[in-house]
Amino acid sequence: MVNDTEYIKQAEATRVRVLSEALPYIQQFAGRTVVVKYGGAAMKDSELKDTVIRDIVFLSCVGLRPIVVHGGGPEINSWLDKLGIEAQFKNGLRVTDAPTMDVVEMVLVGRVNKEIVALINQAGGKAVGLCGKDGNLIKARPQGQEGIGFVGDVSSIDVTILNTLVENGYIPVVSSVAADETGQSYNINADTVAGEIAAALNAEKLILLTDTRGILENYKDPSTLIPKLDIQEARDLIGTGVVAGGMIPKVNCCVRSLAQGVKAAHILDGRIPHSLLLEIFTDVGIGTMLVGSHFTP
Ligand SMILES: Nc1ncnc2c1ncn2[C@@H]1O[C@H](COP(=O)(O)OP(=O)(O)OP(=O)(O)O)[C@@H](O)[C@H]1O
Ligand SMILES: [Mg+2]
Repeated sequence: MVNDTEYIKQAEATRVRVLSEALPYIQQFAGRTVVVKYGGAAMKDSELKDTVIRDIVFLSCVGLRPIVVHGGGPEINSWLDKLGIEAQFKNGLRVTDAPTMDVVEMVLVGRVNKEIVALINQAGGKAVGLCGKDGNLIKARPQGQEGIGFVGDVSSIDVTILNTLVENGYIPVVSSVAADETGQSYNINADTVAGEIAAALNAEKLILLTDTRGILENYKDPSTLIPKLDIQEARDLIGTGVVAGGMIPKVNCCVRSLAQGVKAAHILDGRIPHSLLLEIFTDVGIGTMLVGSHFTP
């Protein structure tokens, strides 16, 4: 039987251990860029949203350079519904005709982006909201799939604006809308944008927060989590259809960013409170970690 004094001692020891366990990670990652894609699906619960926001401010306060890229699928769907426009998807990408593009831009850039910016600022961070158009961050080109509308891919990227912001202590918050050479807006999958930004900045980590535990062998059974896999294994999972729907752009962008020098890519469950801190600052690995090859550390 543990008496009160013993219990308090144990609780204090745990707290101290967690804090002290974080030190080597804080030292290792100081000054390094971490690109966090915050998925629409993990943004629904307001309490959870607060913990994600606090974690991002925490990263910035201990010397990392977080960059947030956000989705907003559920909010776009709810506005499309209000306006009587049907939401459609093909291979995990939103079919984006001209009226849908208007709604995507208004909701992502006007509402979701500014809400995240305001929350980070309330939590004591200094956030600046951007989309691909700001500072010519991203130039878009059509993604090319038949009948998908204004779905874009990243044609080129200029990270000058992001460097200017992070060097001055700001936390950039990026919406995945960008224009082509003619000024036409395109809806780019936010995972893709996060992956390209991570690659262009040679980020330490790309972290995709979503609403499942990670990549699952059977997506209906959380106990089938795949904790670690390399580029080839990830490609195979798409080929065999284990990875489907919204998980396809995630795995593709992780693979691309790893091939371009990002050290590690993680698909994490945004429903677990403080999953970001757990993954970055503790010895407990959660979710799925993708690496270039199992043979390199
Ligand atoms: N093998 C798999 N393991 C886990 N999830 C999978 C798998 N295959 C498909 N999925 C689906 O992928 C979904 C995650 O992608 P989704 O695009 O819905 O979320 P998000 O990217 O976080 O949100 P948003 O696109 O709005 O930013 C999961 O909810 C799951 O239904
Ligand atoms: Mg998605």
